[in-house]
Formats: sequence, structure tokens, C-alpha cells
Amino acid sequence: MPGGVTCRVTSKDAAMTMNSRRAWARPLGGLLLAAGALTLAGHAVAQQRVLRLIADRTDQGTLRPVLDAFEARSGAKVEGVFMDQGLVNRLESRPTEADVVITKDAELMEIAAQRGLLDPIESAVIKAEIPKEFMGQGNLYFVDAYRARLIYYAKDRVKPGEIANYEDLAAPKWKGRVCIRSGSHDYNLALFGQFAVSYGEARARALVQGLANNLARTPKGNDREQARGIYEGKCDVAVINSYYYALMQANPQQKAWADAVSVVFPDQGGKGSFVMRSASALTKNKANRELALQFLEFVASREGQQLMVDATKQYSVRPDVPVAPAMVRLGAEQGLVGGRFKIDFVPLAAMAGKREEMIKLVNELKFDAER
Ligand SMILES: [Fe+2]
Repeated sequence: MPGGVTCRVTSKDAAMTMNSRRAWARPLGGLLLAAGALTLAGHAVAQQRVLRLIADRTDQGTLRPVLDAFEARSGAKVEGVFMDQGLVNRLESRPTEADVVITKDAELMEIAAQRGLLDPIESAVIKAEIPKEFMGQGNLYFVDAYRARLIYYAKDRVKPGEIANYEDLAAPKWKGRVCIRSGSHDYNLALFGQFAVSYGEARARALVQGLANNLARTPKGNDREQARGIYEGKCDVAVINSYYYALMQANPQQKAWADAVSVVFPDQGGKGSFVMRSASALTKNKANRELALQFLEFVASREGQQLMVDATKQYSVRPDVPVAPAMVRLGAEQGLVGGRFKIDFVPLAAMAGKREEMIKLVNELKFDAER
């Protein structure tokens, strides 16, 4: 829903899309009515606790299993605002609207942290259980899962090893053979920003320019559409996130797309592949802090992480949660074992600093122009 806010009341049986204010008001109204009835009946009034969540997802989709499990365990109810775009601005304009925030692009969380929109997570459990490299500065957020931004190639037209690094995407050999979604989508801004931090400005610029020159068509569609492009013979290589391989395999309409491709974890002989992180944090709303912390501790727990991995096919930040079975075989052709791979771990603060620059670069190079 471009520019708008899709909001769902997260009851299990009925998901209603509505204006966000009404979404908060409706269940509370229901509670008041129920409370009135109980009082009339002469019973004690027990008000159900409500945790309010804001997330930059189009809907509750893959978060639902985690939310369901938390509701069952805590007896609380989770209500969410889901918005694909504009998360940081929303936090800025309504800083106490929600208790917790989850983003699939952790550099946005870093920006929110830098703008003073988050409270520190004071939890000994999270501190003990989340590896240090996944804790945000000042404990203002933690990374709750990650995925790799990979190169997929046509099994029948590209030989294993023919493409191995991100910089290969810019080589003349691939002219007219590459598919990718819009350069200004968060996934690509995050990737290009990591090129800039890890490889330096000049190499990153040459890489993005070379990639733009090699495109088989106008950047369009989501990541899965790029795998479909390979399946339909429109391109031979594409840039796609890791979990889509498993998600397409499990989807009868998309299985043929997944069967047409192999997956490369780039730069395994060099600095490693780039990952995109998702993250969780506390807003400035202190009113519901205890429940909010309980939720974050659940997300960080082994059980919460396992639910996250099962639903999203991302990688857990906990070493004791294994790679999703559907992801274990990925990279075997290049000698990877158990689906584990080398990561070029770019600090989120450095990435966040590149975001505006990358938006400018994408515009300047006319990356998304019609082809
Ligand atoms: Fe995605």
C-alpha cells in the first residue's frame, strides 16, 4: 500500500485492515465493554494487557508465529501497525505510539537510535544471550535475524564458478544478462552501502555503474520476480536474498523458478557475502516497559528464534539455533558446509551513514531508467 499505513488488529481469527487510530481504539473499546459487563456481574475486572508493535512490513505475515507464541505465553495481546515505508519518520512523529519496534532493515534502526527515538534495552537475559556483534550501540537495539544478499544464476546456462563475486556482476561478460529489483529499494540501498563501506567509494561506484550497464531489463518487481526472469530466460544471473530460495521451493506456483536456479554466496574466497539484518528495539514509551522487555526477551530466546527461522528462513543470531533445513544445502557446490558462510560484516552505523549517498548515486546513474 504505497504511502499508506496498513494496520491489522492481530487477533487470530479476524484480521481487519483499517486506519491505525481506529485499530488501537477498537479492541480497547471491546475491553471497556467487557469490563463493564464484568462489573455489572459483580466480578473483579481483569484487564488484558496489550503490547503495541510497529514494524516496517506490509503485514504481520511471517511475524505471526512469534506473536502467537508470545500471546499464548504471556496472556497479553499484541497489536501492530504495519507500514512498508516511512518507519523512522513515523517513530519521530509518534514516538510513543508503540511499545516495541521491529524492522527488517537494521540500518533504519541505527538511524532511529542516532535520532534518539529508542530507549536502551536493560535486560541481563538479552545481554547474555545475544552475541556482541548483534547488539546495537548503547544496547539501543539488537539484531534478531539476518539473511544474505546473494547471486542466483541459471542452472542450464551458467556453469558453477562462472560467477563468484559481487564485482563480477559488473564484468562485460554479463552485459544484458543481469536482473535486479529497483536500485532505490531498501535491499539494494543496503547492498550498495555495504559495497561503499567495504570496498571504498570508487570501487563501489564502478560496481553499481557496471551492474546498471549489464541489466537485461528495467529494474522492476520484487526479488522473486528476478528468479522468474531467469526461469523465463530473460536474464542469466540475478541479485536475490537467501530466504527466497526456500520460500519459492515451498510455493507450488514458484517452485519452477527455484528449480531453474543455483545460488552463489559471493566473495567466499575474499571478504565474504553481505548480510541484511533485521532488528528489535524499545520505543520511548515507558508505560508498558515490563511487557515490552518480556517480548524482546522472547524474540531473543531459543524458542522465539526458532520460530523466526522456521517462518522466515533467515539465519538466527543464536549459535544454538540451526540453519533452516531448506537452507542447509545452499552453497554446497562452492564447498560450503551446513549452509554456513563467511560474512563481510559491515557495522550498521557505517551503513546507515551511506544510505543518503546511495540514494543519490542510484539517481545520478539513472539505475532505474527504462531499458
Ligand atoms: Fe524480503
